[in-house]
Amino acid sequence: MSVQRQLLETLIDGKFHSGEHLASALGITRAAIWKNIKVLQSKYELDIYAVSGKGYQLSQSIELLDSDVIISKLSLPNTVSEIETFFTIDSTNRYLMKKVLSSEFHCHAVFAEQQTSGRGRHGRNWISPFGGNLYFSVLYSFQRTPRDVTGLSLAVGVAIVEQLERQGIESAKLKWPNDILVDGRKLCGILLEMHGESHGPLAIVVGVGINISMSENAAKEIDQPWVSYQSLTQAPVARNQLAADFLSSVLLALHEFEQNGLEPFRERWLQRDYYMDSNVKLQLGDREITGIARGIDQQGALLLESQGQLQRYYSGEIRLRPARPAR
Ligand code: BTN
Repeated sequence: MSVQRQLLETLIDGKFHSGEHLASALGITRAAIWKNIKVLQSKYELDIYAVSGKGYQLSQSIELLDSDVIISKLSLPNTVSEIETFFTIDSTNRYLMKKVLSSEFHCHAVFAEQQTSGRGRHGRNWISPFGGNLYFSVLYSFQRTPRDVTGLSLAVGVAIVEQLERQGIESAKLKWPNDILVDGRKLCGILLEMHGESHGPLAIVVGVGINISMSENAAKEIDQPWVSYQSLTQAPVARNQLAADFLSSVLLALHEFEQNGLEPFRERWLQRDYYMDSNVKLQLGDREITGIARGIDQQGALLLESQGQLQRYYSGEIRLRPARPAR
């Protein structure tokens, strides 16, 4: 284990640790401890206080993610063959997409404490500071064609909103295709990537980012209204339990979708549609289309009523922006 990791694992309790104690525990000099503290501060953007006479203290304690603990808390442990947890990674989606290209793939989940290039939809970044939120991806192989998996990201959205409801966040809603909002502020984003031939099989990577306890400072680069799980529940967060709960929901949704497609999810999606019957603007590349959102069809396409006609729009570059409420 690297010195930095050992140091962080000691400081993670949020208590003071003297330089002398850290130096003897890690078998290095106090100067080396100081150098490594500096690295932790810049690499993971962690607030570590240095107080003379007391030592070093992390501004708040963090429950680090642990694959064994997550596996032990899964509702159906046999649904995933491997879980990995990383301290830092560029992107959990990118990591699994590379696996798809390089080897035989199996159902594999990856969590990270920090992503240095988290990927969002529409080429955006997903801001991923260390230790506060959940960032995970699941690699899953479907014996299906790309056409058959249209709508899968909507099914995953439904599964996550239902999990949030079970945890007492009943005001979570879906913004087509799969953003999760609370009172119009984004709580969770889902990014689906796939690789395969037109006749199948397909490798799908489902990436999920949930704001759990994001600080205002870490979030200053987010360019849209956002909200965090902890601000809604106002309760201490058990990160490994949450990781297992959300992963279990996604795995179950993947199995259910593989067997029955979008059908079992469609009504559940419609019940939680944030923009249902609202006037909206769709951005389709450079084009902007206005109309009334009328839910989704059997494939998960957005139904937009414009000049008395229902049009279907498929996922891609489409963005929804609220306009005035429809009558
Ligand atoms: C969105 O823009 O709404 C989708 C965001 C998806 C973010 C998650 S975080 C885990 C996984 N890894 C990534 O790089 N992106 C997804």
